[in-house]
Amino acid sequence: MAKWHKVFLAAAIGAAIVSTGGYAVAQADVIKARKAGFQMNKDAMAAIKKAVDAGGPATAVVAPAEAIAAWAAKIPAHFPKGSDQGDTKAKADIWAKWSDFEKAAKANEEAAVKLVAAAKAGDMDAVKAGFGAVGASCGGCHKPFRND
Ligand code: HEC
Repeated sequence: MAKWHKVFLAAAIGAAIVSTGGYAVAQADVIKARKAGFQMNKDAMAAIKKAVDAGGPATAVVAPAEAIAAWAAKIPAHFPKGSDQGDTKAKADIWAKWSDFEKAAKANEEAAVKLVAAAKAGDMDAVKAGFGAVGASCGGCHKPFRND
């Protein structure tokens, strides 16, 4: 569980540097911080998949699903204007369609919150469905807003 918290901390520190650092440095740091957040998502999804494939335990899904939900709430703040420049796959459409981007983050958060509830209830059928819904919400943002 501590692992997820550490990644958040790293992402939060990255965001803090952005507000104080120079412009170019700031962009590089925020890109680095959000990539760390998304890598954490990947690890969290792998942990959840492992539990789903094994038929449980549902308790193993709680922390990674919470981590996804918490990160989802922070995604928009990690995409300041102009951060499509540099080592990033962010599409310019993020800023052209900002409210859609925020909605995609919100959908991801809500799907993860549902998954947390299913995991806490120990309902593996709901966990399985919830895992699918979270995965779909990742794709729901990547498709319009991330370059391949
Ligand atoms: C609201 C939009 C959004 C949501 C939701 C989202 N992503 Fe992403 N993701 C992105 C964008 C944009 C990038 C590209 C970031 C960059 O290169 O600066 C990205 C990048 C990534 C990366 C590559 C990170 C790297 O090191 O380059 C992974 C892995 C990833 N996402 C996994 C996920 C998973 C798993 C989920 C769902 C649990 C998810 N993402 C949900 C928008 C999103």
